[in-house]
Amino acid sequence: MAIERTLAIIKPDAVADGNVGGIVGMIEASGLRILGMRMVRLTVPQAQAFYAIHAQRPFFEGLVAFMTSGPVVVLALEGEDAVASWRGLMGPTDSTKAGPDTVRGRYGEDVSRNAVHGSDAVQTAAVEIPFFFPTCQLI
Ligand code: RTP
Ligand code: MG
Repeated sequence: MAIERTLAIIKPDAVADGNVGGIVGMIEASGLRILGMRMVRLTVPQAQAFYAIHAQRPFFEGLVAFMTSGPVVVLALEGEDAVASWRGLMGPTDSTKAGPDTVRGRYGEDVSRNAVHGSDAVQTAAVEIPFFFPTCQLI
């Protein structure tokens, strides 16, 4: 067990549906500490850069269109095993397979409109957190 940091994004579907408060509440109840949080509207180049790892996947264009369709809320989180802990709380990518106690089970729709993002490794978080939060802005 180690103290880690991870990046969470509340995606446009969840923001538009008024689920920011519910999701932030689930994060706080889980014991993860919120180091930084703000609302942003991603541009197409920003979304393409953030999800560059998926650039060759068939769903990439739809993913970028979805992620730029409205504001998102980005959060830098910290806690014990924060990467796995947040991904566990998120639930699997396909919201229809997510349990009722997970964010995607509660607020996601399907495999693409799935309410939240989470870094998939400590090394990924180390790139994704500074994408949105200069280190000097995190408390
Ligand atoms: P995320 O990166 O957003 O936390 O999601 P994830 O790790 O659970 O899933 P990943 O494989 O990294 O996919 C990134 C996002 O792309 C969309 N997606 N659509 N239509 C599809 O088959 C499909 N597959 C993935 C989802 O929004 C997914 O979260
Ligand atoms: Mg991913």
